[in-house]
Amino acid sequence: MANTTNPGLEGVMVADTRISDVDGERGRLVIAGADVEQLAAVTPFEGAVGRVLAAGGVDPPAPAAIGAARGAAWELVPRLGDALHLLDGMDALRTALGHLRASGNDAADAVAAIGAAPVFVAAWSRRRAGHAPVAPDPALGHAADYLRMTIGRTPDDGCVRALDAYMVTVIDHAMSASTFTARVIASTQSDLISSVIGGVCALKGPLHGGAPGPVLDMFDAIGAPGNAEAWLLGELAAGRRIMGMGHRVYRVRDPRAAVLEEAVRPLHSPRLELARAVENAAAKILHERKPDRSLAANVEFYTAVLLDAVGLPREQFAPTFAVSRIAGWSAHVIEQHRTGRLIRPASAYVGPMP
Ligand code: COA
Repeated sequence: MANTTNPGLEGVMVADTRISDVDGERGRLVIAGADVEQLAAVTPFEGAVGRVLAAGGVDPPAPAAIGAARGAAWELVPRLGDALHLLDGMDALRTALGHLRASGNDAADAVAAIGAAPVFVAAWSRRRAGHAPVAPDPALGHAADYLRMTIGRTPDDGCVRALDAYMVTVIDHAMSASTFTARVIASTQSDLISSVIGGVCALKGPLHGGAPGPVLDMFDAIGAPGNAEAWLLGELAAGRRIMGMGHRVYRVRDPRAAVLEEAVRPLHSPRLELARAVENAAAKILHERKPDRSLAANVEFYTAVLLDAVGLPREQFAPTFAVSRIAGWSAHVIEQHRTGRLIRPASAYVGPMP
C-alpha cells in the first residue's frame, strides 16, 4: 500500500495531451504546435479556439458558429435572475453556465460554452454597474464583441487587439489546477458543461486565476515606483505573498508575462512603468529571501495592466480569464472523453484504526 503522499501532485503525469506544453525550466509555452509568442501575435481568438479544439480531437468550429453561440446565449440572459449581479463574477459565471443544457455532443457543447461565457460575464458586469445588458453582435470578433457588450459602445481597435492577444495567450496552460479539475470531472464520463463549470470553480481561487485583481490593488497601494520596496517588504513581514509573482511550474519568468507586456505597450497605460518597477523590486526581494527558488513574474502581473488598460473593471479580471480558458478546458474535456481513463488517485489514511 502506498504510504507517501505528494499533496501538490508536482511532476505527476495524468494525461497524454496534444493541446499545450509548458517547459518550466526554459520558460516556453507551446499551444497546439505553436509558441505562445507567435500565436498571440498573429492569431485572433477564434483561430486559437480552432487550434485547441482540433488538438483535442474535433473539427475546428467556424468563427460564425462561435458568434451564433453568443447569440443563442443571449436568449438565456433574461432567465439568469435579478440577483445575478449581487454575486462575485466567478460565482455568477458558474451559475449562468448552469443554464446551458449539455447535448452530449462535445463539439457542439464546447462551442455553446465558449460562446456563452462572454455574454454571461458582460451581462453580469453591466448589471453590477447599474446598466442594462448589451446584446451580442454575432458578426463581430469574439474579443471585440465581449468588450463591446461590457462597455456598451464600439471599442477602440487597439484595445480589441490587446484583449485578443490576452485571450489567445491564456487559452491553455497544460495541467493547471482548473484544467485538471475539468478533466477529473470529464473522466467520470460527466458532460462537457459540468466539467467546464468545475474549471470555473477551481480558477476562482487566488493561487490560480484570482490574482490579477489583487495585483491591481497592489499597484494602487504602492502608487509610485519609489514606494515599491518598502510596501513589498511590509507584505512579506505580514506573512503575505506577493500577488503575480511565483509559479508552480516556471523556474524562470513566465513567458506569458512578456507577451502581455508587449501587447499592452501600444495602449500607453500609465500603470506599465509602475508595474515594471514593482516587478523588479519584487524579484530582487524574493531572490534575497529565497535564493534557491526563482520567483519571477507570472501571467497575472501584466494581465492586471492589460485588462485595466482595455477598460475592464478589476472585478471582471478573473471572469475574463475564464472567458478565454473555457476553450482550453473544453479541448481537454474532449481529449479526456476520447482517450482518458477514470481519474481516481489514492489517499494515505492517517486516522485511528478501529
Ligand atoms: N510571494 C512570496 N513568497 C512566495 C511567493 C510569492 N508570490 N510565491 C512563492 N513564495 C514562497 C513560498 O511561500 C515558499 O516559501 P516556504 O518554502 O518558506 O514556504 C517558497 O516561495 C516556494 O514556493 P513554491 O512551492 O514554489 O510555491 P507553490 O508552487 O506552492 O506556489 C504559487 C505557486 C503561484 C501559488 C505562488 O507562487 C503564489 O502564491 N503566488 C502568488 C499568487 C499568484 O500570483 N497566483 C497566480 C498564479 S499564475
